[in-house]
Amino acid sequence: MSANKIWQGNTTFILAAAGSAVGLGNIWKFPYMVGSNGGSAFVFIYLICIFAIGFPVMVSEILIGKYGRKSPINSLKKLSVEFNLSSYWKYLGILGAFAGVIILSYYSVFAGMAFSYIFNVFPSGLENPSQYSTNYFTNFSSSPFDLIFWHSLFIILTSLIVGFGVVKGIGRSVNVLMPFLFLFIILVSIYSSFVGDFLSTIYFLFKPDFSVITPQIVISAMGQAFFSLSIGMGAIMAYGAYMPEKQMIGKTVITIIFLDTFVALSAGLAIFPIVFSNPFLAINAGPGLIFETLPVAFYSLPLGSFFSIIFFILISIAALSSSISLLEPFTAWMEEKEKFKRPVLVAVLGISIWFLGLGSIFSFNIWSDLRLFGFNFLELMDYLTNNIMLPLGGLFVAVLVGWLVPEKFLEKNLNLSKYKFKAFYFFLRFVAPVSITLVFLYLVF
Ligand code: PHE
Repeated sequence: MSANKIWQGNTTFILAAAGSAVGLGNIWKFPYMVGSNGGSAFVFIYLICIFAIGFPVMVSEILIGKYGRKSPINSLKKLSVEFNLSSYWKYLGILGAFAGVIILSYYSVFAGMAFSYIFNVFPSGLENPSQYSTNYFTNFSSSPFDLIFWHSLFIILTSLIVGFGVVKGIGRSVNVLMPFLFLFIILVSIYSSFVGDFLSTIYFLFKPDFSVITPQIVISAMGQAFFSLSIGMGAIMAYGAYMPEKQMIGKTVITIIFLDTFVALSAGLAIFPIVFSNPFLAINAGPGLIFETLPVAFYSLPLGSFFSIIFFILISIAALSSSISLLEPFTAWMEEKEKFKRPVLVAVLGISIWFLGLGSIFSFNIWSDLRLFGFNFLELMDYLTNNIMLPLGGLFVAVLVGWLVPEKFLEKNLNLSKYKFKAFYFFLRFVAPVSITLVFLYLVF
């Protein structure tokens, strides 16, 4: 791999990987999943999954990418040749590449909504802004044409950046935008806590109540952990290929995980105080939650529309820095086949993903009654990727790196102290695969 395909400096890799991890998963999805899954019980299991499963899997993915310096699929191939393993391991990469494009198909619908909210400035003098906000979202989501317009715009932007190449396309911009997003989300959560019901929020998010834990909550929390960290499908593995040779993987992963968790919890602290202090807003509103609540918070703020505009711009950018990593594994794989140029591949992929996304758009309106295995189209895509494909990918990564790659190779490449390595290795070999398997066994039986 040529030098211009490696990100320069340690912070660029961290911010690019954090840019992939931090996105709609943290700001849009985490709050509504918490709201619909019993609050603290979900948060508790989510945090356990992040550290017990997310950490070892993310380290392993980056290790494979950095070692292979190719697309996830070809890095896996290289690894299996090196250690005399079955050539079937490349299918782990292929599973991930497909998971990425399926996720992108609905991710783009919600990112498009976030985009459109940049221009959604509430009229002044509203008597009941919460009701206005709920009605606005209901009307907006029942119009397929509006949603298609914004979805198209988002797919075009994602494809343009990926078409130019990820290293050039985002290396520089994340350095500026990510810190700005972190700062802003902190400010909004502080503001919400002052004007809304902070105490109820803290109880809801953190007061332990294990009695409400159900298998469904465990499955959703685990899926959310994978989704939020961008692991189990090769996004982080693809980025690992662009990591500077000397950068330490362990420390880098800790930083990324910390940033990701921090943004998710801050989003909860920004949203729930508003919901709890407002009888018109419901915590279990589902995917529309942030669109219904945040504009209400901004409405009561001096210079509210200005803040609202900035906030939705930042969310859109965070979504964009994640969506490119969803598209990258498939694109890099196809590019290595050297039959077509990157822009052509991306155009074909973009159009296919756009079509698939229509199904999710129609779930809000013309197909809202359609059910497949008890889910609407959007829920099915979401369930299939987050709860099945990503954890399955994570399970295979843990088995591959934990059991088939020699320990010596890991020790050499990870450069951890003896004690830290032992802990990491234990979580990778036992904790992660066993817990994912247990969840799957429950799903099957
Ligand atoms: N982690 C991203 C988010 O939270 C979504 C994502 C999932 C990106 C999987 C890449 C791979 O928004």
